[in-house]
Amino acid sequence: MGIARAWWVWLMVVAVGALGSCRLCSSSSPTINNSSCLSWRLAVEANNARAWRTVPPNCHDYVGSYMTGGQYQRDLDMVVQQITAYITTEVQLSNTNNNYSAWILDVDDTCLSNVLYYRRKRFGCDPYDPTGFKSWAAKGASPAVPAIRTLFRKLVTTGFKVFLITGRDGDSLAHSTTQNLHTQGYTGYQRLFMRNSSYKGQSAVAFKSEIRKQLVDQGYKIWGNVGDQWSDLAGDCAGERTFKIPNPMYFVP
Ligand SMILES: *[C@@H]1O[C@H](CO)[C@@H](O)[C@H](O)[C@H]1NC(C)=O
Ligand SMILES: *[C@@H]1O[C@H](CO)[C@@H](O)[C@H](O)[C@H]1NC(C)=O
Ligand SMILES: *[C@@H]1O[C@H](CO)[C@@H](O)[C@H](O)[C@H]1NC(C)=O
Ligand SMILES: *[C@@H]1O[C@H](CO)[C@@H](O)[C@H](O)[C@H]1NC(C)=O
Repeated sequence: MGIARAWWVWLMVVAVGALGSCRLCSSSSPTINNSSCLSWRLAVEANNARAWRTVPPNCHDYVGSYMTGGQYQRDLDMVVQQITAYITTEVQLSNTNNNYSAWILDVDDTCLSNVLYYRRKRFGCDPYDPTGFKSWAAKGASPAVPAIRTLFRKLVTTGFKVFLITGRDGDSLAHSTTQNLHTQGYTGYQRLFMRNSSYKGQSAVAFKSEIRKQLVDQGYKIWGNVGDQWSDLAGDCAGERTFKIPNPMYFVP
């Protein structure tokens, strides 16, 4: 309850802030065209638009209201409904295979939300700022994405071994990330994999594939894989089912 309330409080803060910033920039930004921004977002979500670096400048207000005005939450809820239906109807866990029934979740903007950070980066209209993001992540202050935390609890109580795989650097961010996950209610996962020196310079697809392959080689069956980036879901051993959750703010190759 406390956590749910805190979520709503920050959501209100973000929403009010977004309204304020619309007014500030509307004179300088081109005319808002929700229709073309929706087409752009659909292209992003369907993996038709790739390797984009920033949100189109005229879509700042559109992406801001998408992320904070309720549609993003509704879209997440829809994905979680699909996952729940899949678990209920198609996944059969039994005592003999439970120990090796795995589920993969990404961390940033899957388990934990960085919307508060990206709001300061004009919802992705500003270019990626590795230093800025690293100091945000080091604070360990990202709120949970509530729909995914609910899913996470369901996966754990159903008996899945949940593995978290993140491109965050393990040497510098292991402590803040594990703390952040813990304070936001992510307890009972099997293991958190972070990028270490063995994977430096590798694309997310290569790194995440390699980790998943290790799990499969250990005998795990990956029933599902959830991420906000296509690079979470592409490559080897992606999982029996993959589920893309929305993120129109940035693209990870
Ligand atoms: C664009 O969409 C947002 C959110 O759906 C809405 O608040 C706004 O009024 C729309 N703007 C235009 C110009 O249609
Ligand atoms: C939005 O942009 C598209 C493509 O640029 C254009 O065809 C359409 O007329 C615009 N809609 C509005 C309401 O301005
Ligand atoms: C599953 O794991 C538990 C705890 O590690 C172990 O006691 C049990 O024997 C395992 N079951 C199978 C079927 O491997
Ligand atoms: C990096 O992580 C992988 C997977 O956990 C592990 O196999 C590897 O030994 C680690 N490399 C270093 C240098 O710690």
